[in-house]
Amino acid sequence: MDLKGRDLICTQEWSKEALDEVLRLAKAMKADRFGERWTSLLMHKTFLMFFYNPSVRTRLSFEAAMTELGGHAQYLTESAGRFKTATKAGETVEDAAQVMARYAAGIGIRILEDKVPYYGAGDEMIREYAKWADVPVISMAHDKYHPCQGLADMMGWQEWLGEDLKGKNFLLTWASGALARSWSSVQEALLVASRYGMNVTIARPEGYDLDPKVIEWTRSNCELNGASFREIDDSEAGYEGAHVVYSRNWVTPEAYKDGAFNKQGEIEKAMAYTGWTTTAARMAMTDNAIFTHPMPVDRGTEVADEVASGPRSCIYDVAENRLHVQKAIMALTLA
Ligand code: CP
Repeated sequence: MDLKGRDLICTQEWSKEALDEVLRLAKAMKADRFGERWTSLLMHKTFLMFFYNPSVRTRLSFEAAMTELGGHAQYLTESAGRFKTATKAGETVEDAAQVMARYAAGIGIRILEDKVPYYGAGDEMIREYAKWADVPVISMAHDKYHPCQGLADMMGWQEWLGEDLKGKNFLLTWASGALARSWSSVQEALLVASRYGMNVTIARPEGYDLDPKVIEWTRSNCELNGASFREIDDSEAGYEGAHVVYSRNWVTPEAYKDGAFNKQGEIEKAMAYTGWTTTAARMAMTDNAIFTHPMPVDRGTEVADEVASGPRSCIYDVAENRLHVQKAIMALTLA
C-alpha cells in the first residue's frame, strides 16, 4: 500500500486497509526494534515538531522514533515563532508551512484546548498547514483528533485481547477530574474501536456530549461492522460485560466562550460530579476487561490506583506503542 506523502489528521480519513498496514508494520518494528531493515529508513531526514501545548509522551516518542529510523526530530514551541493572530501582526501559516517543508521530510503539529479560540480551530489550523506544506503533516494531538494515540490504543488492545476485536465490548466512560481535557484522545478511541468492529458504549453525565460528527461516524462504523452503539448517562451500567474500559475526563460542549477556553468553569462543573471513577469493584463487573488510558492518568479521580497499576492495565504498553506506530506512520508516509 502506497501511503507516501499522506497527511494523518484523523484515522477516519484513512482506509481500514491503511490502518491495518500501520499496525502490521508497527508490530513488526516492535518485534525487531533495532533491525537493520528499519534503522536507515529515514537517514538524513528531519521531522519538524511544532508544539503549541506541552507534551511528554508525544515529544519523546516522536524523537525516539526518528532516531530509531536513522533520522532526526526538531522541536519548536509557540514562543519560537512570531505568528499572526486575530489581534496581532505576524507570520502566516501559509508562509511558515512552506518554509518548514523546505527543511523537513514531515511536520507534526500539536494544538489543544487553551491555544484555540473555539472548538475546531485547531483542526482548521492543522489543515491549513497541510494545505501549504508539500510534505506530510501529522497531528500530534489537536482539538478534535489524536490519530497516533488512537492507533497506539488499538495496537495495545489487540496485543492484550487478540487481533480480531469484532464483537468485543468497548466502554468509554467520562471521569471526574480537574484537568479539563480536550476531546481529541477519546474521539479518536471511539473511531478506532468502531472501525475494528467493537460494540461501543459511551457513559457520561448529561451535558458531556462529544462532537456530533464523531458520534455519527462512530455509529456508522458500528453499523457497517454489525456492532452495537449506545450512549448512557449511568456511571455503572456500562461496565457489565465490558472487555476494554477507558475512563477519562473531558470538557462539555460549552467549554469555549467569547473566543476563550473556560478552563476554570469546566473544572468546577466536572468536580461537582462524584461517582465517575473507575474502581476495582466496577472492573469486577466486566468480562475480565483491560483498563486503557492515553496518559497522563489522573490517578484517584479518573481511575483508582489499584486499577491503573493492576494486572489488567495496558497503559504502559499503549504508551510504548506510540513509539512503534509513529515509526510505522513515518516510514510509510515520509520514506
Ligand atoms: N498521550 C499523550 O499524547 O501524552 P502527552 O500529552 O504527554 O504527549
